[in-house]
Amino acid sequence: MLASAGVARFITFEGLDGSGKSTHLERAAAWLEAARVPVLVTREPGGTELGAAIRGVFLDPRFAGMDGTVELLLVFAARRQHLLEVIEPALAAGRHVLCDRFTDSTWAYQGAGRGVAGQVIERVDQLATGGRQPDRTLLFDLPAAAARRRGHSPARRRNAAVDRLDAEAVTFYERVRQGFLDRAAGAPERFRILDSAGSIAATEAAVRAALADLLPGPAGA
Ligand SMILES: Nc1ncnc2c1ncn2[C@@H]1O[C@H](COP(=O)(O)OP(=O)(O)O)[C@@H](O)[C@H]1O
Ligand SMILES: [Mg+2]
Repeated sequence: MLASAGVARFITFEGLDGSGKSTHLERAAAWLEAARVPVLVTREPGGTELGAAIRGVFLDPRFAGMDGTVELLLVFAARRQHLLEVIEPALAAGRHVLCDRFTDSTWAYQGAGRGVAGQVIERVDQLATGGRQPDRTLLFDLPAAAARRRGHSPARRRNAAVDRLDAEAVTFYERVRQGFLDRAAGAPERFRILDSAGSIAATEAAVRAALADLLPGPAGA
């Protein structure tokens, strides 16, 4: 399906920490800005002042024993504010939205990772977002151990102290990875699974191909 001019798209970037979401989101935003395509870049949890405050609580190692359903409620609280304050207004104004993580991360981390039941996630999602789905979701996929090595690069260690989720074992991240793959299998028309184990250039070519039908200009180049 070709995008008609003027239709703003909601595109999410998903995957483990270290899978390349931020790297490729920045690159995609750069091609679009160079082509004067209006675009808004944002992220979860966060994206608003309230969301940033919730993100601080969410990642704080002091709350190591946080219950999975509490995590779920925190991320959906931030997500509702983010949708109302940032995402929907940008789309209504004709800007494409590129968002680093959205509800699929909740299914992967709180669902597959922490074991919160799918019915609970669905109910809270209905309440918080009305079941809002992106137009396209790029899943950056690679083995959990490899993502962890990248995510714990010296640069990242310098910039951010180890957060609450960094303390989880690799088996947790393997469940999360599988959770993302299961989400993708359940919505193949929305998802594109991109192999992120190889070079940045190879993954970037896959990103361009995965967005070519939705976005104008160099995304299709
Ligand atoms: N194919 C690839 N795609 C994206 N990043 C890659 C790739 N290969 C290696 N990297 C490196 O892996 C790290 C990915 O980090 P980042 O983009 O911040 O991931 P995330 O935002 O998903 O945590 C970066 O240091 C990047 O240079
Ligand atoms: Mg990132």
